[in-house]
Amino acid sequence: MAVGRLEGKVVVITGGASGIGLACAKRFAQEGAEIVISDIGVQRLEGAAEEIRSTTNGKVAFVEANVCFEEEVAALMQQAVNQFGHIDTVVAAAGVSSAGYISGASQESLDHPLLEQPLDDWNKVLQINLTGVMLTNRHGAQHMIKQGNGGSIVNIASVAARVALPGAADYCVSKAGVVMLTKAFAMEMLEHNVRVNAIGPGFIETPMTRGLQDDDEGREMMLAMTPMGRLGTPLEIANTALYLACDESSFTTGDTLYPNGGMNI
Ligand SMILES: NC(=O)c1ccc[n+]([C@@H]2O[C@H](COP(=O)([O-])OP(=O)(O)OC[C@H]3O[C@@H](n4cnc5c(N)ncnc54)[C@H](O)[C@@H]3O)[C@@H](O)[C@H]2O)c1
Repeated sequence: MAVGRLEGKVVVITGGASGIGLACAKRFAQEGAEIVISDIGVQRLEGAAEEIRSTTNGKVAFVEANVCFEEEVAALMQQAVNQFGHIDTVVAAAGVSSAGYISGASQESLDHPLLEQPLDDWNKVLQINLTGVMLTNRHGAQHMIKQGNGGSIVNIASVAARVALPGAADYCVSKAGVVMLTKAFAMEMLEHNVRVNAIGPGFIETPMTRGLQDDDEGREMMLAMTPMGRLGTPLEIANTALYLACDESSFTTGDTLYPNGGMNI
Protein backbone atom coordinates (compact mmCIF):
# COMPACT_ATOMS: atom_id res chain seq x y z
CA MET A 1 0.00 0.00 0.00
CA ALA A 2 1.32 3.47 -0.89
CA VAL A 3 2.42 5.48 2.14
CA GLY A 4 1.15 9.07 2.37
CA ARG A 5 3.68 11.87 2.06
CA LEU A 6 2.80 13.09 5.57
CA GLU A 7 2.23 9.74 7.27
CA GLY A 8 2.98 10.02 11.01
CA LYS A 9 3.15 13.82 10.89
CA VAL A 10 1.02 16.21 12.95
CA VAL A 11 0.02 19.48 11.29
CA VAL A 12 -1.49 22.57 12.96
CA ILE A 13 -3.34 24.92 10.61
CA THR A 14 -4.63 28.38 11.58
CA GLY A 15 -7.48 29.76 9.47
CA GLY A 16 -8.38 26.08 9.04
CA ALA A 17 -12.16 26.53 8.96
CA SER A 18 -12.26 28.11 5.50
CA GLY A 19 -10.64 28.65 2.12
CA ILE A 20 -6.93 27.95 1.78
CA GLY A 21 -6.48 26.69 5.36
CA LEU A 22 -9.32 24.20 4.99
CA ALA A 23 -8.00 23.04 1.61
CA CYS A 24 -4.57 22.44 3.21
CA ALA A 25 -6.21 20.44 6.01
CA LYS A 26 -8.03 18.19 3.54
CA ARG A 27 -5.02 17.72 1.26
CA PHE A 28 -2.67 16.99 4.16
CA ALA A 29 -5.16 14.52 5.70
CA GLN A 30 -5.27 12.68 2.35
CA GLU A 31 -1.50 12.27 2.71
CA GLY A 32 -1.83 10.64 6.12
CA ALA A 33 -1.24 13.61 8.46
CA GLU A 34 -3.07 14.07 11.73
CA ILE A 35 -4.59 17.53 11.65
CA VAL A 36 -5.43 20.23 14.19
CA ILE A 37 -7.42 23.06 12.63
CA SER A 38 -7.78 26.34 14.45
CA ASP A 39 -9.88 29.41 13.72
CA ILE A 40 -12.45 31.67 15.34
CA GLY A 41 -16.00 30.32 15.72
CA VAL A 42 -16.57 26.88 17.22
CA GLN A 43 -19.48 26.04 14.92
CA ARG A 44 -17.43 26.79 11.80
CA LEU A 45 -14.62 24.63 13.19
CA GLU A 46 -17.00 21.76 13.94
CA GLY A 47 -18.37 21.93 10.40
CA ALA A 48 -14.89 22.05 8.86
CA ALA A 49 -13.63 19.14 10.98
CA GLU A 50 -16.64 17.06 9.93
CA GLU A 51 -16.02 17.93 6.28
CA ILE A 52 -12.36 16.85 6.54
CA ARG A 53 -13.28 13.58 8.30
CA SER A 54 -16.01 12.68 5.85
CA THR A 55 -13.98 13.46 2.72
CA THR A 56 -10.60 12.06 3.79
CA ASN A 57 -11.22 9.65 6.64
CA GLY A 58 -8.39 11.50 8.42
CA LYS A 59 -7.83 12.17 12.12
CA VAL A 60 -8.83 15.75 12.88
CA ALA A 61 -9.11 17.85 16.03
CA PHE A 62 -10.02 21.50 16.33
CA VAL A 63 -9.12 24.26 18.79
CA GLU A 64 -10.66 27.71 18.77
CA ALA A 65 -7.92 30.38 18.96
CA ASN A 66 -7.65 34.00 17.91
CA VAL A 67 -4.14 34.46 16.46
CA CYS A 68 -3.99 37.98 17.91
CA PHE A 69 -3.76 36.64 21.47
CA GLU A 70 -0.48 35.01 22.43
CA GLU A 71 -1.99 32.91 25.24
CA GLU A 72 -4.55 31.45 22.83
CA VAL A 73 -1.89 30.56 20.26
CA ALA A 74 0.27 28.97 23.00
CA ALA A 75 -2.73 26.96 24.23
CA LEU A 76 -3.51 25.84 20.66
CA MET A 77 -0.02 24.36 20.23
CA GLN A 78 -0.12 22.72 23.67
CA GLN A 79 -3.49 21.14 22.92
CA ALA A 80 -2.18 19.80 19.61
CA VAL A 81 0.69 18.13 21.50
CA ASN A 82 -1.68 16.81 24.18
CA GLN A 83 -3.93 15.30 21.51
CA PHE A 84 -1.42 13.87 19.02
CA GLY A 85 1.94 13.87 20.89
CA HIS A 86 3.98 16.24 18.70
CA ILE A 87 3.89 18.99 16.05
CA ASP A 88 5.78 18.58 12.76
CA THR A 89 4.26 21.24 10.54
CA VAL A 90 2.48 24.52 11.09
CA VAL A 91 0.53 26.33 8.38
CA ALA A 92 -0.26 29.97 9.25
CA ALA A 93 -3.24 30.72 7.00
CA ALA A 94 -5.41 32.91 9.25
CA GLY A 95 -5.81 36.33 7.71
CA VAL A 96 -8.14 39.14 6.69
CA SER A 97 -8.27 41.33 3.58
CA SER A 98 -9.25 44.42 5.57
CA ALA A 99 -10.16 45.43 9.12
CA GLY A 100 -13.88 45.00 8.38
CA TYR A 101 -13.60 41.61 6.66
CA ILE A 102 -15.42 38.69 8.22
CA SER A 103 -14.82 35.38 6.45
CA GLY A 104 -17.91 34.22 4.61
CA ALA A 105 -19.79 37.50 5.04
CA SER A 106 -20.38 39.73 2.05
CA GLN A 107 -17.23 41.65 1.28
CA GLU A 108 -16.93 45.33 1.99
CA SER A 109 -14.76 47.32 -0.40
CA LEU A 110 -10.96 47.16 -0.43
CA ASP A 111 -10.83 50.91 -0.90
CA HIS A 112 -9.13 52.18 2.28
CA PRO A 113 -6.74 54.99 1.26
CA LEU A 114 -3.98 55.55 3.80
CA LEU A 115 -4.75 59.27 3.98
CA GLU A 116 -8.12 58.52 5.54
CA GLN A 117 -7.77 55.14 7.19
CA PRO A 118 -8.47 55.05 10.94
CA LEU A 119 -5.36 53.93 12.83
CA ASP A 120 -7.34 51.19 14.60
CA ASP A 121 -8.14 49.60 11.23
CA TRP A 122 -4.48 49.68 10.15
CA ASN A 123 -3.44 48.15 13.48
CA LYS A 124 -6.06 45.40 13.25
CA VAL A 125 -4.89 44.18 9.84
CA LEU A 126 -1.24 44.19 10.95
CA GLN A 127 -2.16 42.46 14.21
CA ILE A 128 -3.93 39.55 12.51
CA ASN A 129 -1.92 39.16 9.30
CA LEU A 130 1.60 39.81 10.59
CA THR A 131 1.78 39.57 14.39
CA GLY A 132 -0.61 36.60 14.30
CA VAL A 133 1.72 34.77 11.91
CA MET A 134 4.73 35.59 14.11
CA LEU A 135 2.97 34.21 17.21
CA THR A 136 1.91 31.09 15.33
CA ASN A 137 5.49 30.60 14.13
CA ARG A 138 7.19 30.99 17.47
CA HIS A 139 4.79 28.87 19.50
CA GLY A 140 4.82 26.10 16.89
CA ALA A 141 8.62 26.25 16.69
CA GLN A 142 9.04 26.06 20.46
CA HIS A 143 7.51 22.57 20.43
CA MET A 144 9.51 21.52 17.36
CA ILE A 145 12.75 22.59 19.08
CA LYS A 146 11.81 20.70 22.27
CA GLN A 147 10.99 17.57 20.25
CA GLY A 148 14.40 17.78 18.50
CA ASN A 149 13.32 16.40 15.09
CA GLY A 150 13.11 19.64 13.14
CA GLY A 151 9.94 20.67 11.35
CA SER A 152 8.42 22.79 8.62
CA ILE A 153 6.51 26.06 8.91
CA VAL A 154 4.48 27.41 5.99
CA ASN A 155 3.21 31.00 6.11
CA ILE A 156 0.49 32.20 3.76
CA ALA A 157 1.58 35.62 2.49
CA SER A 158 0.22 36.96 -0.82
CA VAL A 159 1.28 38.26 -4.20
CA ALA A 160 0.32 41.57 -2.55
CA ALA A 161 3.69 41.36 -0.78
CA ARG A 162 5.17 42.33 -4.18
CA VAL A 163 2.37 44.07 -6.04
CA ALA A 164 0.79 47.16 -4.44
CA LEU A 165 -3.01 46.98 -4.58
CA PRO A 166 -4.63 50.43 -4.52
CA GLY A 167 -6.64 51.05 -1.35
CA ALA A 168 -5.12 48.05 0.43
CA ALA A 169 -1.79 49.34 1.75
CA ASP A 170 -2.47 47.73 5.15
CA TYR A 171 -2.91 44.30 3.55
CA CYS A 172 0.10 44.69 1.22
CA VAL A 173 2.39 45.84 4.03
CA SER A 174 1.24 43.00 6.31
CA LYS A 175 2.01 40.43 3.61
CA ALA A 176 5.40 41.98 2.73
CA GLY A 177 6.07 41.71 6.47
CA VAL A 178 5.24 38.00 6.39
CA VAL A 179 7.77 37.47 3.59
CA MET A 180 10.54 39.13 5.64
CA LEU A 181 9.41 37.43 8.87
CA THR A 182 9.77 34.13 6.99
CA LYS A 183 13.37 34.95 6.02
CA ALA A 184 14.34 36.26 9.45
CA PHE A 185 12.79 33.37 11.35
CA ALA A 186 14.25 30.85 8.89
CA MET A 187 17.73 32.19 9.81
CA GLU A 188 17.01 31.78 13.52
CA MET A 189 15.67 28.25 13.02
CA LEU A 190 18.57 26.89 10.91
CA GLU A 191 20.33 25.39 13.90
CA HIS A 192 17.12 23.59 14.91
CA ASN A 193 16.44 22.11 11.47
CA VAL A 194 13.08 23.89 11.39
CA ARG A 195 12.44 25.13 7.85
CA VAL A 196 10.34 28.28 7.43
CA ASN A 197 8.85 29.14 4.04
CA ALA A 198 5.95 31.18 2.68
CA ILE A 199 3.47 31.10 -0.17
CA GLY A 200 2.34 34.23 -2.02
CA PRO A 201 -0.88 33.22 -3.80
CA GLY A 202 -2.45 35.29 -6.56
CA PHE A 203 -6.23 35.64 -6.64
CA ILE A 204 -7.82 32.44 -5.32
CA GLU A 205 -11.47 31.35 -5.26
CA THR A 206 -12.22 31.60 -1.54
CA PRO A 207 -14.65 33.60 0.61
CA MET A 208 -11.99 36.34 0.73
CA THR A 209 -12.37 37.14 -2.98
CA ARG A 210 -16.10 36.36 -3.18
CA GLY A 211 -17.09 40.04 -3.15
CA LEU A 212 -14.69 40.74 -6.05
CA GLN A 213 -15.84 37.60 -7.88
CA ASP A 214 -19.48 38.71 -7.65
CA ASP A 215 -18.73 42.22 -8.87
CA ASP A 216 -18.17 42.62 -12.66
CA GLU A 217 -15.45 45.24 -12.23
CA GLY A 218 -13.74 43.29 -9.43
CA ARG A 219 -13.69 40.07 -11.43
CA GLU A 220 -12.35 41.88 -14.50
CA MET A 221 -9.60 43.48 -12.39
CA MET A 222 -8.49 40.09 -10.99
CA LEU A 223 -8.51 38.40 -14.42
CA ALA A 224 -6.69 41.31 -16.08
CA MET A 225 -3.89 41.02 -13.49
CA THR A 226 -3.57 37.24 -14.01
CA PRO A 227 -1.88 36.12 -17.27
CA MET A 228 -3.48 32.65 -17.06
CA GLY A 229 -6.85 34.38 -17.22
CA ARG A 230 -8.49 32.55 -14.33
CA LEU A 231 -8.53 32.49 -10.55
CA GLY A 232 -6.55 29.84 -8.69
CA THR A 233 -8.21 27.13 -6.63
CA PRO A 234 -7.60 26.54 -2.92
CA LEU A 235 -6.34 23.06 -3.86
CA GLU A 236 -3.59 24.57 -6.00
CA ILE A 237 -2.34 26.47 -2.95
CA ALA A 238 -2.72 23.40 -0.73
CA ASN A 239 -0.54 21.42 -3.15
CA THR A 240 2.16 24.12 -2.89
CA ALA A 241 1.89 24.00 0.90
CA LEU A 242 2.15 20.20 0.79
CA TYR A 243 5.44 20.45 -1.12
CA LEU A 244 6.84 22.89 1.46
CA ALA A 245 5.54 20.81 4.37
CA CYS A 246 7.09 17.52 3.35
CA ASP A 247 10.67 16.32 2.86
CA GLU A 248 10.57 16.87 -0.92
CA SER A 249 11.48 20.51 -0.15
CA SER A 250 14.24 19.57 2.33
CA PHE A 251 16.77 22.05 0.80
CA THR A 252 14.36 25.01 0.84
CA THR A 253 14.08 27.53 3.67
CA GLY A 254 13.41 31.26 4.00
CA ASP A 255 11.82 31.25 0.56
CA THR A 256 8.45 32.34 -0.80
CA LEU A 257 6.76 30.48 -3.67
CA TYR A 258 4.28 32.43 -5.79
CA PRO A 259 1.54 30.26 -7.33
CA ASN A 260 -0.29 33.12 -9.04
CA GLY A 261 -1.18 32.27 -12.64
CA GLY A 262 1.87 34.04 -14.06
CA MET A 263 1.62 37.39 -12.26
CA ASN A 264 5.42 37.51 -11.90
CA ILE A 265 5.99 37.29 -15.66
N1 LIG B 1 -8.07 34.27 -1.46
C1 LIG B 1 -7.05 34.89 -2.03
O1 LIG B 1 -7.13 35.34 -3.18
C2 LIG B 1 -5.76 35.05 -1.27
C3 LIG B 1 -4.65 35.50 -2.00
C4 LIG B 1 -3.44 35.66 -1.35
C5 LIG B 1 -3.34 35.37 0.00
N2 LIG B 1 -4.43 34.95 0.69
C6 LIG B 1 -4.26 34.68 2.11
O2 LIG B 1 -4.63 33.34 2.38
C7 LIG B 1 -5.02 33.22 3.74
C8 LIG B 1 -6.35 32.49 3.80
O3 LIG B 1 -7.35 33.30 3.21
P1 LIG B 1 -8.60 32.72 2.41
O4 LIG B 1 -8.59 33.30 1.07
O5 LIG B 1 -8.64 31.25 2.59
O6 LIG B 1 -9.79 33.45 3.19
P2 LIG B 1 -10.87 32.87 4.21
O7 LIG B 1 -11.63 34.03 4.71
O8 LIG B 1 -11.62 31.76 3.54
O9 LIG B 1 -9.99 32.22 5.37
C9 LIG B 1 -9.33 32.99 6.34
C10 LIG B 1 -9.59 32.36 7.70
O10 LIG B 1 -8.83 33.09 8.69
C11 LIG B 1 -9.63 33.17 9.85
N3 LIG B 1 -9.24 34.27 10.72
C12 LIG B 1 -9.39 35.60 10.48
N4 LIG B 1 -8.97 36.31 11.55
C13 LIG B 1 -8.54 35.41 12.47
C14 LIG B 1 -8.00 35.52 13.77
N5 LIG B 1 -7.81 36.71 14.35
N6 LIG B 1 -7.66 34.38 14.43
C15 LIG B 1 -7.85 33.18 13.86
N7 LIG B 1 -8.38 33.00 12.64
C16 LIG B 1 -8.71 34.11 11.95
C17 LIG B 1 -11.04 33.38 9.30
O11 LIG B 1 -12.03 33.10 10.28
C18 LIG B 1 -11.07 32.44 8.11
O12 LIG B 1 -11.60 31.19 8.44
C19 LIG B 1 -5.08 34.65 4.29
O13 LIG B 1 -3.90 34.90 5.03
C20 LIG B 1 -5.12 35.49 3.04
O14 LIG B 1 -4.61 36.78 3.26
C21 LIG B 1 -5.64 34.78 0.08
